[in-house]
Parts: sequence; C-alpha cells; structure tokens
Amino acid sequence: MTITCVEDFRQVYRSRVPRMFYDYAESGSYTESTFRQNESDFQRLNIRQRVGVDIRNITTLTEMAGESVNLPLAFAPVGMLGIQNIGGEIKVAKAAQKFGVPFILSTMSIASVEEVAEATSAPFWFQLYVVKDRDFVREMIHRAKAAGCSRLVITMDLSMLGQRHRDLKNKLSIRPNLKNLVNIATKPRWAYEFATGPAVSFGNVVGHAKGVDDLASLLTWAAEMVDPALDWDDVEWIRREWDGPVILKGILDVEDARIAADMGIETIVVSNHGGRQLDGAGSSISWLPRIADAVSDRVELLLDSGVRSGMDIFRARAMGASGVLLGRAMVYALGAMGQEGVEILLSILDKELRTTMGLAGKTQLDDISPKDVYWTD
Ligand code: GLV
Repeated sequence: MTITCVEDFRQVYRSRVPRMFYDYAESGSYTESTFRQNESDFQRLNIRQRVGVDIRNITTLTEMAGESVNLPLAFAPVGMLGIQNIGGEIKVAKAAQKFGVPFILSTMSIASVEEVAEATSAPFWFQLYVVKDRDFVREMIHRAKAAGCSRLVITMDLSMLGQRHRDLKNKLSIRPNLKNLVNIATKPRWAYEFATGPAVSFGNVVGHAKGVDDLASLLTWAAEMVDPALDWDDVEWIRREWDGPVILKGILDVEDARIAADMGIETIVVSNHGGRQLDGAGSSISWLPRIADAVSDRVELLLDSGVRSGMDIFRARAMGASGVLLGRAMVYALGAMGQEGVEILLSILDKELRTTMGLAGKTQLDDISPKDVYWTD
C-alpha cells in the first residue's frame, strides 16, 4: 500500500501488530466518548482559505518549551512502545533526532532512559509518573537528569486509572497468554522480531523499584503504582529535585491552568490523555482557547489528544498552542513500518502543515491566529 496519510498507517499497523497491543493504543476509557470527540472536534474547526499571498517561503521552524524544533510537534510519551515494534523507543528517538523534533520517553517504556541516551545524541524529554514509591520517583528524576534529558514532563491526569475495557478483555500483558499467542501466530513479522530481538521488560522499572526484580513482580507493581495522593505540593517537590524546566501534562481546566501559572510553571500540555482517562471530559481542542485566554500571557501551551494531521497542527496553533504532542499517529507509523514509518510520518505531517499554511495564506507559524479558524456545528 502507498502510505499517504496517518489513516493508512493505522490500517497497516492493525494488520501487523498483535491485537492486544493495537487495542491498547486504539482505546479510550469506558464509553470512549472523549476519545472520539477529540478527533471529531478537530473536524468542526474550519480553516479560512486565503488567496493572493506570496507563499514561496513557508517555514515551520519554531520553539517548543524553549527548544528549537523543525516542526511544531513532539512525540508523546507512550508506554510499551518497544513492544509495538521491537526496539520502538530507540527507533522513534532516532527518527525524531534526524528530523529535529523532541521525543518524550515514558516511565513505562521498554528501553530504559540510559539505553535511549546511549543510542541517541540529541537530548530527549522524560515523562514522569508520580507513583507511591517516592524513592523510585526521586531516583527516576535523577536518572533522567544524568542521562541528559532536557525537559521533565509530569503526568498530572493519572492519579487513578480510567478503565479501558479492551485491555481487561484481552488480559493485556507483555507476557502473552494462549489466546494472545494464537493471534500472534497471525503476525509473523512481529513474532520474528520479538523472538530474535532483545528481551522485553520495562527498562526504567525492573531492578530499580523496590521489590521489582522480574516481569511478574513488575505487573503487580504497575497495578498498584498509581498514586491518588498526587497534589500541587508534590509538583513543587519534583521541581526542586529536577532543578530545571518542567512541563505539566494533563491540564484541561482554566482553574488548574491558573494554579500552574501562579506556581511559575513554564509549559503545560492541554490534554485529556487521548480520551484514556476521564470519559466525558471535553476535547482538548475545545478547551484550548479558554485556557489560552486565561493564561497564555504567562504559560506556554502545548496540546495533545486527537491530532492526526498537519491540518490539526495548524488548528492547534491557531487556537493558542505552540505545538502538539503526537501519540497514536506515532504508534501507528512505528507499528506499521518501524523507524522508516516514523520518518515517513514526519514528512507527511510536514507537507500537510506546509500545504495548509500556504492555502491559508501563511508563511510563518507566528502569523497563524484565532482569526484563521472558526467553529461549525
Ligand atoms: C497510560 O498512560 C495509558 O494511557 O495507557
């Protein structure tokens, strides 16, 4: 198949990767209404077509969280990338480095922060889960620092886990049961890479968190790790430990954005975790303009949840985000075609964004404003 858009990657990904891992990525919590609305609200935001502008010199260069980027996007932290495609974290990090966009490594990655640092030369960002074991959290912050990570992304919207029915039905695990093995038998390319590649484990956790020495103990740890006590004092503590710029991910309310701004947080990610946490929450793109109105003079805004095209990146820029985080689109491309897929994805998004800018009469990202889009019902 000739890949021309993100949806093509999704279809190839679906055919190549074991069903339980596809389902893990392609799920929202409970009724999935927020998961669906994230995408459909982007479609409701129309872009104004403008003509008669010299658009020979379009540039997508900008800054995100104080770093120069070639496109206003970063790869979102996604758990278990290295099982969607074996060696996945390093492949995405390499594609990101080649293209000049940030890669954010998840705490729940397969490759450890040290392994990703070893395999790359550009600094990447690290996503931190605040778990009950605060010794682990402290150690993780310092490991990320020692590995040269340039930004710390604190996940704020996972103090409880939103249930995804399919993961329960599939008994999602990185150690497949018999039913999953039957499905894996229909994915020979994936199975070959799994069987011949490095052993799969959660690299940041196994051997580091108390009582987690192997896969079996990790699964118990992961189920119990979520910390309902996470509050703003913890954010202050993490900032002190990290001693550098932090990014708060999972802010979806004006009041919370104001609290973050009052604390002097530099950057927040307007996000509902891809519709995987609070089902019934509004879409990220619908909240972005309200949050921008309230705090964009004090805090830089990024956005994730529902971004599937360069047109969506334009819409997010218009509504006040300096850039977006891409989770699912990256997983589709990686699962479909490994590092090459992620590189093709970046060139597709680059072309879509440039074409959108040109046909909307813009040559610079900074020229895009709320006036360039309008809502329809
Ligand atoms: C964890 O962050 C998930 O969304 O699965």
